[in-house]
Amino acid sequence: MPKKNSATPLSTNKHLLRWVEKMAELCKPDAIHWVDGSQGEYNALCAQMVAGGTFIKLNQKKWPHCYLARSDPNDVARVEDRTYICALSKEAAGPTNNWVDPFEMRKTLKGLFSGCMRGRTMYVLPFSMGPIGSPMSQIGVELTDSPYVVVNMRIMARIGKKVFELIDKNFKRVVPCIHSVGAPLAKGQQDVAWPANKEKYIVHFPESREIWSYGSGYGGNALLGKKCFALRIASAMARDEGWMAEHMLILGVENPQGQKTYVAAAFPSACGKTNFAMLIPPPHFQKQGWKVWTVGDDIAWIKPDAQGRLRAINPEAGFFGVAPGTSNQTNPNAMASLAKNTIFTNVALTPGGGVWWEGMTAEPPATATDWQGKIWTPEIAKATGAKAAHPNSRFTAPAKQCPTIDAEWENPAGVPISAFIFGGRRATTMPLVYQAFNWSCGVYVGATMGSEMTAAAAGTIGKVRRDPMAMLPFCGYNMGDYFRHWISMQRKLTETPRIFHVNWFRKDADGTFIWPGFSENMRVLKWIVDRVRAGGRAKETPIGWVPRYQDIDWTGMDFPQEKFDALQAFDRAAWRAEVLGHEELFLDLHAHLPKEMIYERELLICRM
Ligand code: GTP
Ligand code: SPV
Ligand code: MN
Repeated sequence: MPKKNSATPLSTNKHLLRWVEKMAELCKPDAIHWVDGSQGEYNALCAQMVAGGTFIKLNQKKWPHCYLARSDPNDVARVEDRTYICALSKEAAGPTNNWVDPFEMRKTLKGLFSGCMRGRTMYVLPFSMGPIGSPMSQIGVELTDSPYVVVNMRIMARIGKKVFELIDKNFKRVVPCIHSVGAPLAKGQQDVAWPANKEKYIVHFPESREIWSYGSGYGGNALLGKKCFALRIASAMARDEGWMAEHMLILGVENPQGQKTYVAAAFPSACGKTNFAMLIPPPHFQKQGWKVWTVGDDIAWIKPDAQGRLRAINPEAGFFGVAPGTSNQTNPNAMASLAKNTIFTNVALTPGGGVWWEGMTAEPPATATDWQGKIWTPEIAKATGAKAAHPNSRFTAPAKQCPTIDAEWENPAGVPISAFIFGGRRATTMPLVYQAFNWSCGVYVGATMGSEMTAAAAGTIGKVRRDPMAMLPFCGYNMGDYFRHWISMQRKLTETPRIFHVNWFRKDADGTFIWPGFSENMRVLKWIVDRVRAGGRAKETPIGWVPRYQDIDWTGMDFPQEKFDALQAFDRAAWRAEVLGHEELFLDLHAHLPKEMIYERELLICRM
């Protein structure tokens, strides 16, 4: 064990102590720091990062307790091609995941992690995904050599002493997570602001429930409670234990009678979950008494209760939200959430010590420092197309600061779910909204979801790819078995949530969005809630139930029927191509595809 600064362990759990010791022997950190999760510890780590150049302290009058970090330009998003599901068999990981034999991978990791923390401190960071002690929560411990990860995780999860106490009480099996930026320091070597390694490995062992992450300090690659645990490992646990771990926001719609309807929605990365979760209804709806409450913006853990109803918790405690496009016009609740105690990554710095990103204000600042630390002006932007903020720049903000955070958001039993909504980013083909005929038809709708790729992951932006249930990069096992799990969930239920599909992103011939989105999405949400609660009106079409023009409340909005018809248009030729796209996915998954998916596809073709 390293001697220098080795604080006394904050846990008495023998397994944990032995594992920490073993990992310290492998990684050879200079010091070990047991994270207590206190404000004092957080402040000290932030001050240390300011001194080291990782953090810039923002103007504290305008941005209290806020910091800015700029990452290495090669470390700005999740790396899906470096993400592995190392199940015992390739078959168990399935054709949509990268797979390496676990025995081989362990050898590789041993090599990579050997001495990888030299010159750094290893933080022992205990975290709870979900409210402390909730029966639906899970526990992990992340060993990391990144103080940036520690302070971000303090916002994104429940961390520290309280979690060590749970571990000491043997509350639940602990998921071991080990993370290194992969940049050991030689004696006397000066550190850089954002240490990282060109070589990256984001590795999951679903059977032994372990996570090993190497080489990146960014977002889902490094904050291991989020995508690695709460989706990839948790989806495998959920399949074994009869629940669901989904890439979904959770929101509650309160009607004028004060009744709440909770829905969960799966949209791929950077396709509008945070915005939808924090929706503010248009003025006319507000006057009538409609309210939208936020439970979560990215991940939902969903389980049938004793009465056979699905209930969901948000396993996270913060928002790791996309900055660009977030403004007082588009998402005032996010702006209020990030007004204090927030960490910004890869946004621009203004001369007054504030932050800025594309879309934050109508008028850009006259000058700014861009996300790479270079001078940026609107003129330079016009000439070169340079962005002040990286398209995947993010804010890390505490969920409790959201003005619309739901009273039930930390209810250990979760909230009841009445509907699932799937949605992607589609310039053509997909209508604004439709409802699936029933559960298995709805599972088909989710399973065949497509979306244009965004900056949230490295890849070709704009290309349509199949992203089943927005889980393609996040499912910890065979996608065919995942569909089967969805189908089988219904058998545990007395009340089946209704399933819908939305698309805020359909474009006209000039390439502009037909639908204004954001607040106006309330009109679609109201139709959904009406369908679920009050038997709202709809028309049957080959793909499902759709609202007629008169079934949507248009008060206070000038949206002519022709435009609505363009949004809802069913283009037979486009759907033909769409179904062929489904077939391509099914060919990949054929060995594990549930027969319901084949039947649903046949029925869809027959109806068309
Ligand atoms: P992840 O955090 O990556 O999972 O993303 P997300 O699904 O939470 O997406 P987010 O709400 O952050 O939105 C991503 C981008 O889509 C932002 O630039 C938004 O401004 C934009 N966006 C969100 N909702 C709408 C909408 O209704 N219409 C349009 N046109 N754009 C939207
Ligand atoms: C996503 O990409 O879906 C995110 C951001 O929510 S990350 O945490 O990096 O995965
Ligand atoms: Mn996400």
